[in-house]
Amino acid sequence: MSEQIKKPIKITETVLRDAHQSLIATRMTTEQMLPIIDKMDKVGYNAVECWGGATFDASLRFLKEDPWERLRKLKDGFKNTKLQMLFRGQNILGYRPYADDVVEYFVQKSIANGIDIIRIFDCLNDIRNLQTAVTACNKEKGHAQVALSYTLGDAYTLEYWMDIAKRVEEMGANSLCIKDMAGLLTPYKAQELVKALKSSTSLPIELHTHYTSGVASMTYLKAVEAGCDIIDTAMSPFALGTSQPATEVMAEAFRGTEFDPDFDQKLLKEIADYFRPMREQALESGLLNPKVLGVDIQTLMYQVPGGMLSNMVSQLKEQHAEDKYMEVLEEIPRVRKDLGEPPLVTPSSQIVGTQAVFNVLMGERYKVATKETKDVLLGKYGQTVKPFNPEIVDKVLGEDKKNAITCRYADLLEPELDKIEAEMKQWKQQDEDVLTYALFPQVATEFFKYRQAQQTKVDASVADTVNGAYPV
Ligand code: CO
Repeated sequence: MSEQIKKPIKITETVLRDAHQSLIATRMTTEQMLPIIDKMDKVGYNAVECWGGATFDASLRFLKEDPWERLRKLKDGFKNTKLQMLFRGQNILGYRPYADDVVEYFVQKSIANGIDIIRIFDCLNDIRNLQTAVTACNKEKGHAQVALSYTLGDAYTLEYWMDIAKRVEEMGANSLCIKDMAGLLTPYKAQELVKALKSSTSLPIELHTHYTSGVASMTYLKAVEAGCDIIDTAMSPFALGTSQPATEVMAEAFRGTEFDPDFDQKLLKEIADYFRPMREQALESGLLNPKVLGVDIQTLMYQVPGGMLSNMVSQLKEQHAEDKYMEVLEEIPRVRKDLGEPPLVTPSSQIVGTQAVFNVLMGERYKVATKETKDVLLGKYGQTVKPFNPEIVDKVLGEDKKNAITCRYADLLEPELDKIEAEMKQWKQQDEDVLTYALFPQVATEFFKYRQAQQTKVDASVADTVNGAYPV
């Protein structure tokens, strides 16, 4: 009897980042995370994705939490499991390109505070926007994973993906991720893509997809059979819909096969039991909209990621123009074509989505162009795979057209850190505060004010106690 050769699939858990970002607007607090970390640490995950993406902004803006403090607490708790973050290349965790010194310092501080794996992507797949972060990560001895933003379109052939994968390997990445943020990758396409990537690079391949269009778990199955090394899943209470396939389900699907990750289903159940009331509560409060839990096949037709849809709906609501939903949905692929057919992922998804809303509401396309649309056409976000629509360039940029660039935009930026630090030094309590402010000056200032007020309150109550104990 021959022994079965084992090639256990590795699993990255997303419940602490993407899953709650996709389902409950990134509102899970550190206090909600900490009690379950001990158990999660025993599962045997490849990594726990728990930081970056929108968690940084949401912590400061909505939860009044210091994201760095969260990271340090998570690091204290996860003794055996690697921590992973999502990083938007030259845009870091913000919405615009930053100078290299800010990118490098952010990478350095992320790793110093506990991150092991940095997943770095660019919204245009312009690999020049990844290099600084990858090099900085290599220097800090972190694991640099480059994520290719998966999308569909004439330009995105297998040859395109194979070529870019090879270049990613050459630039110093330690692994490669296919980042399918909209759930566009169907099972047999995934099989084909993974095989192609495996033939063009020797990097480990991770697949990240969303359940939005309903095919994700089948996609994982075919990808794993084709040689995919790692898949991203979320604990069942925060799985499916616009989130990832469920961890327990994928672990069970491979049970007894060569890919068996050998997870303890009893332990997974205890973890799921912990998260379930959070889901119930979110459903009750309306934070979790049952709409995002179903299958949305429109995502395959319009290639719009789940987060972008909810953003668009709220923009239309504000303008009392919800009846324009379908019109905007149809305008999105047209705007995308005008802008060189980029993948739709933060921040390109917001840029294309907002412009589509303007085009429809104004009754004339590009009558109003946002600053970000102009910047895309000026080349500031990088190079797109397809050329821009020349008519739109003329209409939006006019004379300004001559200022368009083809170099890497960050090459034109002066170092920013010193200036930023000078601007915010009255608030600085830790080095990391400079980075917080660099990314979100307004939100950070609000947060710093709040933090100071809290501390004053604590000081005052300590003083009261002391005064009470020792009458003067
Ligand atoms: Co995602």
